[in-house]
Parts: sequence; structure tokens; C-alpha cells
Amino acid sequence: MSSVKNLPGSMRTHHCGELRETDIGKTVTICGWMNKYRNLGSLHFIDLRDKYGVTQLGFEAFKGDVGELRKFSLESVLLATGKVVSRPESARNPNMATGMVEVEVAEIRLLSLAEEVPFLPHGMVPATEDLRLRYRYLDLRSKKLQDILTLRSETTKKARLSLYELGFNEVETPILYKTTPEGARDYIVPSRVHPGKVYALPQSPQTLKQLLMIANTDKYFQICRCFRDEDLRADRQPEFTQIDIEVSFPTLEYMKNLATHVVKRVFGFSDDFQMHSISYDEVMRDYGSDKPDVRFGLKQLDVTALFRGSAFGTFADVAATRDGMVKAMFIPASMGALARKDIDQLTEVVKPYGGKGVAWVKVENGVAGGGISKFIDPSLLAALYEKSPEKGDGLWFFCADKNFNVTHDCADALRRHFGKHFNLIDPDKYAFLWVYDFPLFDYDAEADTLGAKHHPFTRPKDEDMELYYSKDKSLVKNVKAYAYDIVCNGYEIGGGSLRIFDTQQQSRMFELLGFTPEDAQHQFGFFIEALKYGTPPHAGMAFGMDRIIMLLAKTDSIRDVIAFPKTASATDLMASSPSKPSDAQTRELGFQWLGGARD
Ligand code: AMO
Repeated sequence: MSSVKNLPGSMRTHHCGELRETDIGKTVTICGWMNKYRNLGSLHFIDLRDKYGVTQLGFEAFKGDVGELRKFSLESVLLATGKVVSRPESARNPNMATGMVEVEVAEIRLLSLAEEVPFLPHGMVPATEDLRLRYRYLDLRSKKLQDILTLRSETTKKARLSLYELGFNEVETPILYKTTPEGARDYIVPSRVHPGKVYALPQSPQTLKQLLMIANTDKYFQICRCFRDEDLRADRQPEFTQIDIEVSFPTLEYMKNLATHVVKRVFGFSDDFQMHSISYDEVMRDYGSDKPDVRFGLKQLDVTALFRGSAFGTFADVAATRDGMVKAMFIPASMGALARKDIDQLTEVVKPYGGKGVAWVKVENGVAGGGISKFIDPSLLAALYEKSPEKGDGLWFFCADKNFNVTHDCADALRRHFGKHFNLIDPDKYAFLWVYDFPLFDYDAEADTLGAKHHPFTRPKDEDMELYYSKDKSLVKNVKAYAYDIVCNGYEIGGGSLRIFDTQQQSRMFELLGFTPEDAQHQFGFFIEALKYGTPPHAGMAFGMDRIIMLLAKTDSIRDVIAFPKTASATDLMASSPSKPSDAQTRELGFQWLGGARD
């Protein structure tokens, strides 16, 4: 706060993290929460805490009744006025910013008496997460969470400035809107004025920002809230914040430069910062994931072809299946050893991803032993080593499935497991990737249906345009998109694409996604119409602000970086939200409540 402009009229002259030896002799007033009270018989001390730190109050010169201090409970709010004095040598605390001084209290006022709190924000005994979420305002008093809120505020400022610097305009778009397809379910809001009709909260301002490009806004951004009703994970909340961006007349190169610029500013990197580019096909081949943590190596090898006709029936079957894949990973002996029980437990690592097990082979003095070694003859072993950049003794692991997605997922899980097990991850490092050339669609072979991999406004690559109009969906599924993701340390922190700016291409997209012309018209008619009136080529991206803060704060829970987060079941434990509406509300909104009685 010292570098911050102060306005006259505050109740305090200083905050609790500010006083130093240079302030000795000054009469000051500070305010804060009672963090600690020590009664050493003749000596009394209170540690007063605010957002900025802790200051010790001493009562040696106090003319009032020190007995009154006992009435102040922990977490009560106090105001103290007194003189800054040097602490006696023996009481100095070099580990505390204000540890050389204390305030010799002349006057102390109780501003707000605290009842016994359910837990102390700085207590040594950690409270359960449910209790902390129920009393979020108490948990937020902690230094850790306040520091994250400050970091978040500073980062938001940097993001804004980075875009102002390039001439972008921040434009607000509606929250009460219409469905915006980002792959999740919508949160809907009934309308009193239009009984039986609903608004949808935006899953992102996707169509709106594209309309802004049609509307000549040229360079748009918004730090905006998005709402998605989807299964929650450690890095997902039902409402979250994006740095949302759209620009007219860009190239792919411009979009990468733009993402690099924002990342550079937000993370505070130097001018030579670059993101490594890797295509979707390459990233899946090497890591089995489109958002790998590349702070460590352990690349995977596609060894399907080596197992065609193998004596190991399971792998031979997989290799003979159209969508089957066998992947291998080599752990050189120099990386460390794995006990037999560690190897046996690997099945548990891949099980959640549909894996049935992890095959392995140990190579000692160039000879394969253990696991599936009886199926790995010397020529197969030689072929494996030929594919591997790492040579020598070590352990080979294999994942295989008739569905290559399962193989990828299991190999990815295994790689992440080894990364942790062998301590390969440097917690102070940020490793970025620019992943490009994503498929345009996800294809469900059983149902023969296509879903948008990114969203339905993403432009197919020019060279795949013929495929895009093919009648055979199993061919259309191979179309690549001008879509890209920004990945850091295993998190997808952003994504975007060049957009379709042609009505016919856009209508074809809705057709491929299974919309009838009537459905497409009903949901997106306004948008398809707008495309007709002169649409500039445009592109955009959105960064997940919460995930960026997670990385900067080095936490792996998204709840740490949001002031009032929801639980994994999308509940606000503090306000008990969501809650049942009142009868009057349902009547007024013109809908019938089928969810049972109110709490
Ligand atoms: P996308 O859906 O990839 O793209 O979202 C962009 C980024 O937002 C973050 N994110 C989330 N963060 C927390 N909780 C969630 N539930 C959540 N969902 C997404 C991720 C992700 O990379 N409109 C497009 C962008 C575009 O094409 O311009 C979009 O929203 O970090």
C-alpha cells in the first residue's frame, strides 16, 4: 500500500504490514483483526492483523485497564493508537516484516466484537474444505487467499493493458442471452415478461464477438464471465472468467503473435519469449494428450506396426483392428528404478481411462526379461530401440487398446504418473505449447454423428474443403480446422480459431452437426443472416483467467483463485445456492415447480 496513493480521511494512518524502524517515534493509528493475545502477567501483547501484515501492540505505557483486553476475542476488530517504539533486542523478530518495532498503545477501541469463530483463518489446525467454503469470508481473511486475490487483480490489469497496448476495445456483451454452443449445457433463466420463455446465460460471448467483427469493431476484448453446466473438475467451475478476444483480418501467424504477446505480459516474460508450436497429430503421437505437461520429456512411441502378427495375441488383435493402437514408453535405468509392486500398481493408473493393464519388459545388459518378455524377441527389441531416442537398459511400458483414444488416454495417465514418481517436474518452470491443426470434429463411429471439436464457428482448412462437403461422415471426420490451443504445464489455458465467414460454409456446419434447417434457423438464424451482410475474415481466442491464476499462484485447485467458488457439485455452501424458488416466483415466471417442497 505504501506505493499507492493515499486519500485523506481514513480511520488509520498506517496498515499492519507497514511500520519499520524508520517510523520509530511516530504516533500512528492502525486497525485490524485480533490475531493473537498474549498475557504474560505484567506484560500484554496483541498481534493486530490486516490484509497487509501483522503488527505487535504493546501495553507497557497504557493508562487504561489492561483487564479489558481479556474481553476481546480472537478475530475481533480493533483500532489502536500509539507510538512506534523499538522492540527490546530479545523480542525482535527478523522473520516478520514489522518485527523490529511495536506500537506502544495509548488508546485501544473495540470496533466489532467477534463471536467464537468456527475456525481461525491463521489457525494451525486446518478446517475441512466444506467448513471453509461455508464460512468463505473467514477463509478469505488468510494471507494465502488474500495474496491470490491481489495476484488476480494485478493479472487482470496486465491482461487489459496488454490488449489496450495493441488498440483493442473492451466491449461488454449481454449475460441474459441465447444458447451459445461451447459443448456444455446452458444455465437458463426464466422470463417474467415472457412466460414460458427463457434466456440462456452465455457459455462464452462467441456469437456476440463475431457479430462485433461484422459490426466493424475490428479489435475486441472482454474480461468476461462464462457459464457452463458441465461436470466439474479441479480446473473447472460452472462460472469462470475468460480473457475473450476477437480480431478482424488476421492470419494464423497474427493469432499466434497475439497469444504470445498476451502471455508475455500476463506472465511477465521477457521480449524473447516464444511458444513452441506443435500440431495436434504430433502432440497426440508424442504425449497422448492435446494438453501435455512438457516440463518433462518421456515421449511416447506409436509401436502398433511392430506388433502386427505378434505372438502376443492381445497386442496382435489390437494392431489388427482399424482403430487399434499400441504405444510404448521407455524409462531409462538412469531415471530411477521401479519396484515390482510399483509396476503392479500401474493398472490402477490406467483403469479410470478404460485401460485394462500396463504391459512391461525390463531390459538388463541388453536382454529383455519379466512381464511380456517372452513375446519380445531380439529383433522386436531392436526395432523398439530404433524408434527410441533413449538407448541402454531400462523399462519398457506398453498401453494398447482397440480404440486409439483409450490408448492415448492411458499412455498420458502413465506419463503423468511417471513424471510425478520420478520427480521430473520443476515446479518453478512454465512450459508453453501452441497446439494447432486440430480436427474440426469429434466423430462418434457407433452413432455415425459428428460433434464440433472446438465450436461450430471454426473454419475448416482450405485444403480440406472438398472433404467438408463429402457425403460420407467417416471422411468428413478427417477435416482439419484452423483451430489452436494454448497449453501450459498440462493445462489448456486458452483456445480459439479462425472463423467461418461464409454463409454456405456455416450452414453446412450446422447440417453436419445434425441440426435440421429449422433448428439451425431457430437457434442461429440471426447469426447466419448477419454473415450475409459483408463479413470480414476474423478470428479469436479466449484465455481461461482462472487457470492462468492457478498457474501463477502455483495451486492445483481452481477454488483457491475464485473469491466465492462453488463445490464440485456446483453448490455455493455459504449462501446455500442454488435454492428452490418461492411459490410467488414460480407463479410470476409462469412455470410449474416440480422439484418438491422448499427447504
Ligand atoms: P473454450 O471453450 O476452449 O473456447 O474456452 C476457452 C478457455 O476457457 C477456459 N475454460 C474454463 N475454465 C474454467 N472452468 C471451465 N468450466 C472452463 N471452460 C473453459 C479454458 C479454455 O481454454 N469461445 C471460445 C474461444 C474462441 O474460440 O475464441 C471458447 O470459449 O482455459
